[in-house]
Amino acid sequence: MVLIGAPSFIDLSKPCEMETRKIVLAYSGGLDTSVAIPWLREKGYEVIALTMNLGQPVDLEAVRAKALAAGAARAYVVDAREQFAEEYIAPALAANALYEGQYPLSTALARPLIGWHLVDVARREGASHVAHGCTGKGNDQVRFDLCTAGLAPDLEVIAPARVWKMTREEEVQYAHAHHVAVPAAKRTPYSTDENLWGRSVECGVLEDPAIEPPEEAYAWTRSPLEAPDRPAYVKIGFEGGRPRTLGGEALSLRELVERLNRIGGENGVGRIDHVESRLVGIKSREVYECPAATILLGAHAALEALVLPRDLLETKRSLEQRYSLLIYDGLWFTPLREALDAFVATTQVRVSGEVTVKLYKGSARVVGRTSPYSMYRQDLATYSGGDRYRAEMAEGFIYVWGLPTRTWSSIGSKATAKGPLAAGTGIPR
Ligand code: ARG
Repeated sequence: MVLIGAPSFIDLSKPCEMETRKIVLAYSGGLDTSVAIPWLREKGYEVIALTMNLGQPVDLEAVRAKALAAGAARAYVVDAREQFAEEYIAPALAANALYEGQYPLSTALARPLIGWHLVDVARREGASHVAHGCTGKGNDQVRFDLCTAGLAPDLEVIAPARVWKMTREEEVQYAHAHHVAVPAAKRTPYSTDENLWGRSVECGVLEDPAIEPPEEAYAWTRSPLEAPDRPAYVKIGFEGGRPRTLGGEALSLRELVERLNRIGGENGVGRIDHVESRLVGIKSREVYECPAATILLGAHAALEALVLPRDLLETKRSLEQRYSLLIYDGLWFTPLREALDAFVATTQVRVSGEVTVKLYKGSARVVGRTSPYSMYRQDLATYSGGDRYRAEMAEGFIYVWGLPTRTWSSIGSKATAKGPLAAGTGIPR
C-alpha cells in the first residue's frame, strides 16, 4: 500500500460545513468516481481513494495521482491479482461458474474482493462510510452494497452516481468546475470493465441486441477471421481441480490465466455475446472477452467428466447453477456460498490430470484428457473384445430398469382414447 498526502493545489481553505467523516471510495479513475471525490468532499467527507490492481491494463500510478488531484486525502493502490486468482477465480472455476450458461462472471467475481478491501481500508482508517461509483441500474451496486452488509454491517454505503442525478454532460461540467481532469481519450462509446478473468463491454451500438458487435468493441481477442491458420494446442495440468501447469511448466494461477488470455486472444477465443437478465429486472446486452476463462472452464469440466461418477456430476451441475447465481446476485459473503464451496471442494479431490485444448479461429475444443483417477476403462468401453463386461447380464438389468416404462405404457395404451391399442399389450412380461 502506498500513502500519499493531498496535493497543495487543492483548495482546502473552504472549511466543510459538516463535521468531517471519513469515507473510503472504490476509485477506478473514470469520470464517475473522479467526480465523486469533490462531490463527497462537498458533503463533508474526507475521501480516501482505493484502487485495486486486478490485472486490468491500466497505469495505476496515474490513477492514484488522479485521485489525489481530484481531492482525495489519501490514495491507496492494492495489488490483489494473486488473491483474486487464488480466492475467487479458483473456487469459481472448481464450480464451473457460468451465468446463464454463458458469462464467466468476471466482473461479478471481482466485486466482493474489492468490497473486502474497501472494508479493510475503512477499518484501518477508522472510516464510517464506504463509497462506490455504481449507478442505480446495474448489478454492481447490489454486489458492493451486499459485500459491506455481509462483512461490516455497521458501515454505511454511499453511491454518489446513484443519487446525484447528473447527466454525463453535467458531470463533465461539474468536473471542470472542480478542476477534475476529464479523460479526453475516453470518448469511446463503450463502458468497459477488465480484470484477469475477462473484459466486459456494454453501451453504444451494443445496446441494440439485433446488431452484431463491431470489431472495435473487442480489445483482447483477434477476429477469428484474422486468427492464425494453424491451430494452437495448450495442455493444462490440474491438481485437485486447480490448474497448476501449462505445457508442463508450473505456474501460479495468475500467470497461467494471463498466458491463456494471451494465447486464447490471439486465436480469437473467448468472445461472448450475451443478452443477460440483470438482478434489477432489466435485460441488457453485454459483450465479453474471456479467453482464459473459456479455455479453463471447458478443460476443467472435461476432466470432471472423466473422473466423476454420473450422479455426482449431475448433482454438482445443478448446484453450479446456484453458485453462479449467487456470484451474480452479490451473495459471496454468505453461508450459502461457504456451504457450496465445501461441497465443491469434496468433489475436486480426484480432479487431477491433463487436458489438451485445441484453439483454432475462435473455438476452444478439448481434444484429449488423462488422469490417474480416470473412470474411463478401455477394457470396459471397447467394442473389440477384451471382455470384462458381462454382456449377458445386460438383459436382466434392462428388464428391471424398464419395468416402470413397460407398466406405464401398458396402462397408457388402453387409457388413451386415440392411442393405438398395441396388440398383446397388457401386464408386463
Ligand atoms: N453485466 C456484467 C455483470 O453484471 C458486467 C457489468 C459491468 N460492465 C461494464 N461494461 N462496465 O456482471
